[in-house]
Amino acid sequence: MKLVIINGPNLNFLGIREPDIYGTQTLKDIEQKIQSYAEERGHTCSFLQSNSEGMLIDRIQKAHLDEADGIILNPAAYTHYSYAIHDAVKAVSVPTVEVHLSAIHARESFRKESVVAPACVGQISGFGATGYTLAIHALEEIRTKGE
Ligand code: DQA
Repeated sequence: MKLVIINGPNLNFLGIREPDIYGTQTLKDIEQKIQSYAEERGHTCSFLQSNSEGMLIDRIQKAHLDEADGIILNPAAYTHYSYAIHDAVKAVSVPTVEVHLSAIHARESFRKESVVAPACVGQISGFGATGYTLAIHALEEIRTKGE
């Protein structure tokens, strides 16, 4: 499968940012873990991190034009209020899994709602970096069922 992994604002600060919540791994560490897990299973990965909503939307649209097989998306704080990212996920025909490192349903009340999740095939939250590899597994299952 051709996979696109998209991380939103402040996730470039993993390792520095609130390590008690987000852990000590950097985004590069996490991307390497995803890359080797995906490679072992014969998938290719393309990564983007951006602090800008428009860049995230452009990458979601590009995934469609490139005929990607799956998007793994951590919209970070945009999760909770970006209808534009919701619409972008809805607009494309690429199955998208929303991932969060932290357990968003166990945190502040504003984090409990995701406006993006209703446009996604599912949401994984609270398993740290493992959430991204769980998302790959979920996309494999979706693809197998669709065949
Ligand atoms: C996050 C959770 C969001 O609420 C937060 O704004 C983030 C990271 C997570 O991965 O746990 O930036 O998406």
